[in-house]
Amino acid sequence: MSSSHIKVKAIVTSPTNSSRQGYKFKYEEGRRYHADEDVSYILPNDDDEADRVHQQHWILKYALQCNYHAPVTKMLEDGIVVLDSGCGPATWTFEMGETYPRSAFHGVDASCVFPEDIKPANVELVIGNIAKHIPYPDNTFDYIHQRLLFLGLTHDDWENTLKELLRILKPGGYLELVEPDLQELHNVGPLLSKLQGTLSDILISKGMPTKVHDQFEELLDKAGFENYVMKMTPLKLNHTNKAGDLLWEDYSHGCINIRSVLAKSNTDWESPEVFAAFLEASGNEAKKYKTCINYYACYAQKPLE
Ligand SMILES: C[S@@+](CC[C@H](N)C(=O)[O-])C[C@H]1O[C@@H](n2cnc3c(N)ncnc32)[C@H](O)[C@@H]1O
Repeated sequence: MSSSHIKVKAIVTSPTNSSRQGYKFKYEEGRRYHADEDVSYILPNDDDEADRVHQQHWILKYALQCNYHAPVTKMLEDGIVVLDSGCGPATWTFEMGETYPRSAFHGVDASCVFPEDIKPANVELVIGNIAKHIPYPDNTFDYIHQRLLFLGLTHDDWENTLKELLRILKPGGYLELVEPDLQELHNVGPLLSKLQGTLSDILISKGMPTKVHDQFEELLDKAGFENYVMKMTPLKLNHTNKAGDLLWEDYSHGCINIRSVLAKSNTDWESPEVFAAFLEASGNEAKKYKTCINYYACYAQKPLE
């Protein structure tokens, strides 16, 4: 998908949508990044990363055996209004739109990495910084889904985002948050410990939580949500079955896409070849140790009053 082919439409329900924001890019080592100083996200936003995130959706669906955890199936079948917050290339949004044709789906992302021209009729996509202002009126959505923002939001951003999500959720509506624990892998060996330690140091230096799922209950409570439920699923990394192989494919691709950031803390990794060899050894280590990544999904509701 080429950025020059992306058109962003204004949508009636979002009068404050500032679509031009998505067109500010910067380039480093041949990779394209957003250039919005208010957005802390550290991964690139080019085609390779969009393809990775697209594929990651199918891998997670296969490994988790579901697309969502909140008890919203009947509501989705009957017809509700849903937001995918930080939707990326909008693979979840599109698939859900096709699965539940009576519901209306909206996606918001800081970068215009999503396709706009070809999409299900019940899907609308908009550019916005979820930590500043989500361009929808109060009490718009019945269900909000947000997945994999742990490399994008500082402590303050999480607080602001949850306030915004509460504002645009209808009373009684559900918010679902899904994040992996990449700081503490289960059955981890020394190589992956080193990698995760470096990533954690970077997150700390940027004011981002390293284990945001540990703070979900407190953050949601502080923002004003209630009826909090948490579920954890350990996902196999490079062992046992196809899901394990696929998760490693995604994990290692994500590491390659974040290599230049990791190299700021570990200069050995300035060389893509050195890093590739390190990753290969890490993959073998994960297979031997039977390493798992714990995925956390929680949901909570906006109070009725
Ligand atoms: C790893 S992708 C996940 C995409 C999607 N949620 C999924 O699970 O397939 C994270 C996305 O969050 C977006 N993002 C990061 N910080 C953001 C912010 N402050 N406001 C809106 N989107 C943001 C990025 O642009 C990126 O597309």
